[in-house]
Amino acid sequence: MLDWTDRHCRYFHRLLTKHALLYTEMVTTGALLHGDVPRHLHYNDEEHPVALQLGGSEPADLAQCAKLGEQWGYDEINLNCGCPSERVQRGAFGACLMAEPQLVADCVKAMLDGVQVPISVKHRIGIDQSDSYDFVRDFVGTVSAAGCSTFIVHVRNA
Ligand SMILES: Cc1cc2nc3c(=O)[nH]c(=O)nc-3n(C[C@H](O)[C@H](O)[C@H](O)COP(=O)(O)O)c2cc1C
Repeated sequence: MLDWTDRHCRYFHRLLTKHALLYTEMVTTGALLHGDVPRHLHYNDEEHPVALQLGGSEPADLAQCAKLGEQWGYDEINLNCGCPSERVQRGAFGACLMAEPQLVADCVKAMLDGVQVPISVKHRIGIDQSDSYDFVRDFVGTVSAAGCSTFIVHVRNA
């Protein structure tokens, strides 16, 4: 969660259980490619297993950021297709990506091509009026065909 699950919060969560996969706050590709990488990617070793959650929609940028995440030792890279914020939608990522399953598939494929760690996708059960079973089934089907085998589902539409 943005502005919440920073490395201090995750360290606390790790004290609560050894049996959870922890996720970073969403880090945008722009923040990583043009910003302070250590500030965004530094974490405590005790956090493992820990996944880096990325926000973006450019396959090449996401591939580069996934590589960075792997180099920093993250155990999984997660693509956020669930954030409903209007600020995020203007950047064409987050939940609005559910309307573009082929683009998400291309992003996942580009990331998988460059790293060994698993790529997962967080999404919702739908967006706006598109919340039928068929809609979410087709989204998952298209993205899994690109090699994503783990989907984290936020059980509310955006
Ligand atoms: C302040 C805030 C920040 C959030 N940041 C993220 C985030 O960075 N990545 C993410 O996957 N979900 C994020 N979420 C969504 C939560 O992970 C979670 O799915 C959601 O809050 C619970 O469901 P609800 O908001 O529909 O009640 C955020 C939610 C809030 C309230």
